[in-house]
Amino acid sequence: MDFNSSKTKECVARAFAGECQDGARYQFMAKSAVSEGFSFISDQLKILAKNEMAHASRLYSLMVKYIGNGKDNVPIEAGYPFEKSELKTSLKIASEIEDNEATSLYPAFAKIAKDEGFPEIAEALSLIAKVEETHRDKLKALANLYRANKLYKNPEKIMWTCSNCGHCETKKEAWQNCPLCGYGQGYVEVPQAKMQI
Ligand SMILES: [Fe+2]
Ligand SMILES: [Fe+2]
Repeated sequence: MDFNSSKTKECVARAFAGECQDGARYQFMAKSAVSEGFSFISDQLKILAKNEMAHASRLYSLMVKYIGNGKDNVPIEAGYPFEKSELKTSLKIASEIEDNEATSLYPAFAKIAKDEGFPEIAEALSLIAKVEETHRDKLKALANLYRANKLYKNPEKIMWTCSNCGHCETKKEAWQNCPLCGYGQGYVEVPQAKMQI
């Protein structure tokens, strides 16, 4: 099948646009996390933003490779979410968007690419879908802990680490201000063990 008349081409363009706006949204969220005092969550969001831009870059390269003459202007139509929200709700909304990409949108795009004879594109979309699954899980865990006010509390003693100075201590609740550097609780790393959903 000729790529330029394929459905795959539109799927790659839509996925590229989606990844760009995911990346932008995470950068906005990272900023609002800092202003709400959650520096560690902000760092996590910056990592997600970096991942999304890497996905966008891969899709862009595939598009340029397959369109043949290296230049095109591809019209697409898709819905993209705009919603006023605080970190508490935007984490949850973001995890739902990631879930849709991971379990519905990208698997469907990958199937179209495979059926139309573009295995390299199908493979890239499937690999991206797997990453979005991990994004969904991380965002969901953070959203749940935040809403339950359990980001920095644990039923058993657990190791807390300051993401600024590295100070660590094993206790049920993280300090309000780090005894070493004085930075606030929002700089404390949420332990990996608490991120299991
Ligand atoms: Fe992505
Ligand atoms: Fe993602």
